[in-house]
Amino acid sequence: MSALPVPLQWLKALLRPLVRRIRELPDLPLVLAFVTSGQGRTHGVTPWRKWRLARRIIGNSYRVRSGSNWRQHLRLVDEILRIPSQVPGDVVECGCYNGASSASLSLACALTGRRLLVCDSFEGLPEPEEAERYEIHSHDQGFYYVWEKGEFQSAGGLDGVRQVVGALGELSVCTFVQGYFNATLATLPSERLVLVFEDADLASSVRDCLLTLWPRLQEGCRFFCHEPWSINVVGLFYDRSWWQQNLGHPPPGFQGSGQGVPLFSGLSWPWRWWGWEPSVMGYAEKFDFQRVREQGGKIIHHGSSGFQEGQGGRFVDGRWQDR
Ligand SMILES: C[S@@+](CC[C@H](N)C(=O)[O-])C[C@H]1O[C@@H](n2cnc3c(N)ncnc32)[C@H](O)[C@@H]1O
Repeated sequence: MSALPVPLQWLKALLRPLVRRIRELPDLPLVLAFVTSGQGRTHGVTPWRKWRLARRIIGNSYRVRSGSNWRQHLRLVDEILRIPSQVPGDVVECGCYNGASSASLSLACALTGRRLLVCDSFEGLPEPEEAERYEIHSHDQGFYYVWEKGEFQSAGGLDGVRQVVGALGELSVCTFVQGYFNATLATLPSERLVLVFEDADLASSVRDCLLTLWPRLQEGCRFFCHEPWSINVVGLFYDRSWWQQNLGHPPPGFQGSGQGVPLFSGLSWPWRWWGWEPSVMGYAEKFDFQRVREQGGKIIHHGSSGFQEGQGGRFVDGRWQDR
């Protein structure tokens, strides 16, 4: 029972939306940056629609416990809007917990006519391998985290997640894939992917995702990773022998190791400064190694002039082209 007298409880309930708005005010430039970024034009998504979408995603963030935040959701939505409609493929989420991120991704998929495959055990993490059980945060020196089997179990299991996405997102575009990744992802009902959002914490789980999903990712598209702070996870993206042995080519590397890529880079004034907040998400971008080898002289090396997103190439008429 609440300790507050009833009239005070009413007052608190009345004031809550106002307090929320005031607390959101400093984030307004970030939302405006998302709204005016220009992504989504090829899908006919207007700034007004993006504004409404952002409001909905922010509102949803108060309604369900999530391992990610609305800023990250807007970044992922922006990414889905970036992919031209001519590039066919689905969006995959690996690790949904209670479905908050799934709801946001589903709204973007509905706007762009894509399917969202939501993959999870819905029973939480599998048993961690011994080598990954203790995780040292690369930016939190002196602290470590101990992963446990069953952590991040979805409230209400698969049905609970379905209800959350039904209430807060767009259930009609979602396909739910239940089970541990090493048993489910190889037979995923999708041949072509335009975005993977992986939020599975354990390096062993991320390895399972890479093994089966990377080959299906379209060129110029990105595998987003929610653990840029994890030495175990980021290390996978540079593991030469694993990539050569399992996928037959060198590793793709990783953008945003540590605190992640900026939330919205490449923005013009006046939003530029807000966009540079770290997203605590990184990604690996897919490109054709054979083609890179053949056209090697034309490839711009990211490291030579400092990283800028999209510097190495861009979509032109739905196809990936070097700059
Ligand atoms: C941190 S939570 C995801 C948080 C979620 N994206 C959000 O924004 O609220 C990690 C999720 O990954 C799932 N997971 C991790 N490894 C898995 C595996 N190998 N197979 C299936 N699910 C896995 C867990 O069940 C859990 O739901």
